[in-house]
Parts: sequence; C-alpha cells; structure tokens
Amino acid sequence: MKKKLNVGALISGGGTNLQAIIDACRRGKIDAKIVFVGSDNPDAYGIQRAGKYHIPTFIVDYRSIIRQVKENPSALPPPDDFDLQTQLQKQTLFGSDTDPQRVRDFMITRAIAEARLLEEMKPYKFDLLVLAGFMRNFSPYFIDKVNTNPELPRIMNIHPALLPSFPGVDGYGDTFRYGCKVGGCTVHFVDYGEDSGPIIGQRAFKIFPHDTIESIKERGLKLEWELYPECIQLYAEGRLKVVRKTYQMRAGKTWTRAVVEILPPG
Ligand code: GRF
Repeated sequence: MKKKLNVGALISGGGTNLQAIIDACRRGKIDAKIVFVGSDNPDAYGIQRAGKYHIPTFIVDYRSIIRQVKENPSALPPPDDFDLQTQLQKQTLFGSDTDPQRVRDFMITRAIAEARLLEEMKPYKFDLLVLAGFMRNFSPYFIDKVNTNPELPRIMNIHPALLPSFPGVDGYGDTFRYGCKVGGCTVHFVDYGEDSGPIIGQRAFKIFPHDTIESIKERGLKLEWELYPECIQLYAEGRLKVVRKTYQMRAGKTWTRAVVEILPPG
C-alpha cells in the first residue's frame, strides 16, 4: 500500500474545510491522514469535529498569550533562539509605513505563541501543515522551523479570493464590495507575506446581480471543499514543484517570482 501523507491542520473557526479534508481522507479520495488539529481559539468548533474522529487536538490560545505579554513582558519571554533583528529583516507582512513598535510587538508576541505551537506539534510526524481557516499570520520564526527544505514548502493555506486580489481576512466580502463579476478561492504555499506565497490551485465562480456576500460565500466555500483536498493530493503525489521564474519587463527591468509547477502524474 502507498504511504499516506501525514497532514497536520490548524484552524480558528467552524472548520468546514477541515471537515472536507477529513471526509476526503476517510473516503480514500486522497492519500492522506490527519495527524493533529490545532487551534489558536479555544472555542473553535472545528476542534469538536476533529474529536469525533479521534484526531489528537491542541489549543494555543493566542489572545491570552498576547494579553499576558502586554501586561507583563518579563513573565513570557521570547524563545531562546529568537532574534528580533533577523525576524524584522525577513518579514514582509508590514510595509515601511507601519509603526515600528507595532511590528516589533507583533514579531515578539507571535514568536512566543509560535514556539508553543511548535512544542504542541512536536510529537507528531507531519509531512504537510494545512491552514484551514487559521486566522493568524505566521512570522518567519515559525515558517523557517517548518520549511526546512527550501525546495519544498510545507505550509499550505486556503484563501477566499482569487489571489493576488484581496488578501487579508475578508476575501469574499472584499470581492463583493469591490463589485467583481467573478470571485473565487486560492490554495497557496505560505511565505513571509500575507497570502502572497506561490499559488497551487484556484477556482472561480460568477457573481450575479442578485448575489449577496452570504450567497457568494456559500458558493465559494463549496469550491474550497473541492479544491483543498485536490491540492493536498497533488502534494501527496509529489507533483508540486516550486520554481523561481525571472521575466524580462519593460525598460530592462526584471521580475522574479516563485511559482508552482504541477508535474504530470506518475
Ligand atoms: C474559509 O473561507 C477559508 O478560505 C478562510 O476562512 C474560512 C474558513 O472556513 N481562510 P472554515 O472554518 O473552513 O469553515
């Protein structure tokens, strides 16, 4: 029998994408197995979904960690191997116009929470980490510890918009409010930026005049439930390759981007 891909999942909410992945695994539609489900939110319903299938779960309560650090920074110090300057140099979540103190606070509080996450994840051997409605951005501290092989990223995310349009927390809402005539969802690898990593797969749907945010969200989610398992299966089959492409642009300029090549089966 073919070896299954061990998948860890992180969620923040209802977990319908998690459910779609669990179902695809159980029905043998994908060669994968979920080995843990973690959440930053103690009330995430997705944790209960995981429990039903006896999947190990854990919570790292980001909100409480961030509050504790604000109240008493010495009580919760950053991990020993954390170096603020390195993190600030690597990160691409914030632009130069962001208050530097805010960026520093973010890097420190996240590294503390992320070190806890890594500790919780340690007992499980996972090949791929999927973010299924995990509403926290990672700092480079976490990403570098999971992505140990530069050739093959190990963190996937699903985003409710056709990236690179509408990154951020409300993809369907932003798509609707902008007046788009198509919407969609994107599965991508996670890099240091916000929803900016190499795109693995996308699905699009039409937006009609009678649509509302709720109706497009409903349509979009149905596509997400198909797309995410498909992308995980491509990963399981070893068919995703990240390559850096450089393009010649106008005025002698070049543009470089890491893109995903989908290799043929077999
Ligand atoms: C999905 O729309 C996903 O694209 C976004 O958050 C939502 C999570 O939904 N990142 P669920 O928790 O999987 O139901």
